[in-house]
Amino acid sequence: MVVGFEKAASATKSVMPSGKKTPATLSSDSVINFARGDPTMYHSYWSKLEDRCTMVIPGNDLMSYFSDAGNLCWFLMPELDHAIRRLHRVVGNAVADDDRFIVVGTGSTQLFQALLYALSSPDEPEPISVVAAAPFYSSYPEETEFLRSGLYKWAGDAYSFDKDGPYIEVVTSPNNPDGAIREAVVNREGGKLIYDLAYYWPQYTPITHRADYDVILFTFSKATGHAGSRIGWAIVKNKEVATKMVKFIELSSIGVSKESQLRAAKILGVISDDCQDSGPNKEENFFEYGYRLMSERWEKLREVVERNGVFSLPKYPQDYCNFSGKYTDPSPAFGWLRSKEGLNCDNLLREHNIVTRGGTTFGVGSKYTRISMLSPDEEFNLFLERLSAIKGTAKEIVIDDRLREKLKSL
Ligand SMILES: Cc1ncc(COP(=O)(O)O)c(C=O)c1O
Repeated sequence: MVVGFEKAASATKSVMPSGKKTPATLSSDSVINFARGDPTMYHSYWSKLEDRCTMVIPGNDLMSYFSDAGNLCWFLMPELDHAIRRLHRVVGNAVADDDRFIVVGTGSTQLFQALLYALSSPDEPEPISVVAAAPFYSSYPEETEFLRSGLYKWAGDAYSFDKDGPYIEVVTSPNNPDGAIREAVVNREGGKLIYDLAYYWPQYTPITHRADYDVILFTFSKATGHAGSRIGWAIVKNKEVATKMVKFIELSSIGVSKESQLRAAKILGVISDDCQDSGPNKEENFFEYGYRLMSERWEKLREVVERNGVFSLPKYPQDYCNFSGKYTDPSPAFGWLRSKEGLNCDNLLREHNIVTRGGTTFGVGSKYTRISMLSPDEEFNLFLERLSAIKGTAKEIVIDDRLREKLKSL
């Protein structure tokens, strides 16, 4: 992720430093960065709840390395453990009963790496292959290859993986970048699965079942938008795997910030309270708010894409959402745009001052690009405006490309 972030950040002087409370004013020629999945759009929801989520931490509090010395994950705050299990019960998106281990990490990014370590073995003659079905989240190859580990190695697209022996497959569902609901594709003996369910929350997709897998990853970043707290969690069935993950985190960061854990526990608790509130003055809960916002954005995006005719978007089937008790349309965190003419989609949008993350980073062709649906309103609206304007230029670019090809052959 970091490399992708840096590429995106250096490609443009982005107008939105994500830590700011009020968005910088956008001028008609400012470059907008839609390459990052920075979930800043939930800011206004949390502004309204400021007091209920505010925490004061005295200087003498939270000083020890230890949170719960008796727990296998000794750095997990009991408050967060409780809030995570409760939220999954309330939403119905995963089994997180007491027989499962919760391992907290500095974002699910750290947990992914902890899992690569935990699921591999130093006794194997060669590094275990790590695969994901393309298009896959662009950070998986980077994180797997970064340290050139002798334990594991990136082996690319799961659809074309045909090597015998043990392997790890990452199943991301709904998928980043294309929002698809996924299952494992290799399905061979010796396979170990990591389910990355970062987006399996009601604002992005209907909640159709309680996920019950050996290893599941979730992240506070995409569940609530608090990416800056850097909290992720794994739900793990096997004690040995959980123990190895804890060892990895112990060696890489001796635990996880307690301030962040308590903040996450508080916010997750407020969400659960609101979801369970059935009183007459009940307010829109976080997931209802998120779903309303996301589906409005998707409706607008589809309208613009249909009107300009240059791009297409995937279609997603409606499904019954156990959380909301009605049929809902998926509204993924990313738009997966395809150029109908087979043009380089990322380049085309860059010409209109929109920075995106091109298909090749996700293991597919450049006629695809990913746009974030999680930006602040002002930026999203400007994006739609610019996208609408591309209509007229598409033909010019087609001609340019053809000319370019002709010139090449001369
Ligand atoms: C599928 C997926 N997994 C994991 C992450 C990383 O999450 P975190 O912020 O918890 O490190 C992201 C972030 O974009 C993601 O899209």
